[in-house]
Amino acid sequence: MASDQTAITDKAKEIAYSETRRLLDRTQGSKRLYERALQSLPQGVGSSFQAGDPYPIYLREGRGSQVWDVDDNQYVDTHGGFGCMIVGHAHPKIVEAITRAARTGTHFAAPTEDMVLFAEELCRRFRLEKVRFANSGTEATMSAIRVARAATGRDDIVKVEGSYHGHHDPVMFSVVPNSDLMGGRDQPSSAPMSLGIPKYLEGHTHAVPFNDLEVLEGLLEARGDTIACMIIEPVMMNIGIAEPEPGYLQGLKDLLHRFGALLIFDEVKCGAAIAPGGAIERYGVQPDLACFAKAIAGGTPGAAFGGRGDLMETIERGAAQQGTFNGNPLVAAAGLAALTEVLVPDAYEHLAKLGTRMATGCAAALTEHGIPGHAVDLGAKGCVSYRSQPLRNYRDFLEANDEIFNASYPWMVNRGVFMTPGDEEQWTLSVQHTEADVDRYVDAFAGLCAELARG
Ligand SMILES: Cc1ncc(COP(=O)(O)O)c(C=O)c1O
Repeated sequence: MASDQTAITDKAKEIAYSETRRLLDRTQGSKRLYERALQSLPQGVGSSFQAGDPYPIYLREGRGSQVWDVDDNQYVDTHGGFGCMIVGHAHPKIVEAITRAARTGTHFAAPTEDMVLFAEELCRRFRLEKVRFANSGTEATMSAIRVARAATGRDDIVKVEGSYHGHHDPVMFSVVPNSDLMGGRDQPSSAPMSLGIPKYLEGHTHAVPFNDLEVLEGLLEARGDTIACMIIEPVMMNIGIAEPEPGYLQGLKDLLHRFGALLIFDEVKCGAAIAPGGAIERYGVQPDLACFAKAIAGGTPGAAFGGRGDLMETIERGAAQQGTFNGNPLVAAAGLAALTEVLVPDAYEHLAKLGTRMATGCAAALTEHGIPGHAVDLGAKGCVSYRSQPLRNYRDFLEANDEIFNASYPWMVNRGVFMTPGDEEQWTLSVQHTEADVDRYVDAFAGLCAELARG
């Protein structure tokens, strides 16, 4: 087996090299735009997550399940704007809602009826008593943590080792720690992920492993009276996918409450994606507060957080939560249309069927060709990880074969499938994807497995 693994890894390196050369040949327009963009944008992109090696693919257009790049290459889109585009591109109902809103005023910084209706729908779906708007997942998690601190009068927070909650300072610890910076499994260290994080914050964000109540209990016993909250992705979705073990989420809630701390779900990726009511519905645990962005806003820059009314009341008592663009009319119209007209029960049935077709197709290809890996199916979201056993936590993720990821990105893109580079993301399907789109992905993937096995 070990020698098979070595052969597969060597073959993956070969594929990565030759397919990347091919990809560069096909994307000369992107290269030109990148060279121009470097003059005005660090790394030639608007967000470091858009950067590519050696340059990103610049897109021109998206319609339905398809996107086109500036070289006119057409792709089935499984990138989905990092999980926002579950409605698919230029969905007629979203276009209509945004057009109607644009015709009657794109911005007021005053409340509107659509904003109220959007809030009501979020409260209904996610069983929240009160909700507030923001403009990005980062802002939503920042505000939820502020409210938790205000409500408890405590400063420190707990997060999961290897999880991402946006790029504000307190959550930028233990995001993708290198193995030499991780510390022991039972006492993960919490190193900052970015330059520019103030030193005085070190020691106030505590990392614990996913799916492990014991380490959290030890931490709470040692310093529970300083901890305001734990923020957690209920299903980890920035390491491929790691699902919570049965009882884990409820166990967290009970444990945190025992020490007077609050539970915040970061549903930025899973809210409205893995079930109509996100992880709250899928796993049946109601957190104290929850954060949403991406899929809730129909492809516009909208976000929200909310939960228990008594906690959200701290905003009325002086916990600052504001923003010029919060609840903007274009976002409210798009979000409302997405949640009430597009992401309706039939849509989730469609997504469930497609997701299962995708994951079973990929799993069959892995098995047929003896490639170590597994596929995860969460409806609109799913992934392949190149580790035979499902992931329990971040340390398991580090064991996956990243050479195969390096090969899969150019291989798939060269075969007309647009996907996220890197091993931490997963696919996003939309209501406008078809079985034929899924089969295109699976066929390309099966071709990759066959090629790897030839190693
Ligand atoms: C789980 C999670 N939380 C928060 C964020 C931050 O969201 P945004 O990029 O909208 O600031 C992300 C972004 O990918 C995320 O995956």
